[in-house]
Amino acid sequence: MSEENNRVLKISILRFDPNDPEDFPHMETFEIEEAYGMTLFVALNEIREHHDNSLKFDFVCRAGICGSCSMLVNGKPTLACRTLTKTLGESITLAPLPLFELIGDLSIYTGKWMRGMNERLETWIHTEEGTLNVDKLEERMEPALADEIYELDRCIECGCCVAGCGTIQMNKDFVGAVGLNKIARYHLDPRDKRSEDDYYEIVGDEDGVFGCMTLLGCEDVCPKDLPLQSKIAYLRRMMVKNAY
Ligand code: SF4
Ligand code: F3S
Ligand code: FES
Repeated sequence: MSEENNRVLKISILRFDPNDPEDFPHMETFEIEEAYGMTLFVALNEIREHHDNSLKFDFVCRAGICGSCSMLVNGKPTLACRTLTKTLGESITLAPLPLFELIGDLSIYTGKWMRGMNERLETWIHTEEGTLNVDKLEERMEPALADEIYELDRCIECGCCVAGCGTIQMNKDFVGAVGLNKIARYHLDPRDKRSEDDYYEIVGDEDGVFGCMTLLGCEDVCPKDLPLQSKIAYLRRMMVKNAY
């Protein structure tokens, strides 16, 4: 029994297989009956099972943890597995996140972009020895600081902030809010021994913190509600201080 008044949803999906030279981007609309508590994950599976088994989309955890199901829902980057259809109108438009390599239809390769960004920013703890010392990593940390670091570690690399940022549309080398959030996270961590100069070297330019134009789309769309705006401001103050 549906609590959504037995609506028939019209789900329009941007379809395209970049590996098929005969194919071209086009919209296809599917009609399905809305079910109680239906998420877009369930709706897409319904389409794949009963209408078109060639439809490509990504899901792993179905719980907002893995970050693989991000897509444009009515033009807004978000997680499909956490989106209830009852929060949307009867007509829904789905498209893949822009900027990332397209695998096909709604499936994108965020992992490649994220890996490149993580390698570029070296998003791991740098010790004085250069190697990990487990005993040192277990040193005590103030609970409030641990909480602050954990808050930023909740990023699931879904790519929504990248897709929602106009700056990256103009500068493909911009590391995005996801990258700046990671740098803010490691800068906070007393176990990371990189100097202020090291951090300046990594993100103190227009591909980093000075490229951000404070458009704030990142914070609007982050499904984990990370404090991206305040962390970018924090990094910017730190960089400016370091420059003088
Ligand atoms: Fe996704 Fe938020 Fe992380 Fe960006 S910062 S990748 S929107 S969880
Ligand atoms: Fe982009 Fe967010 Fe800055 S949307 S321009 S990273 S504030
Ligand atoms: Fe993992 Fe949506 S399927 S976040």
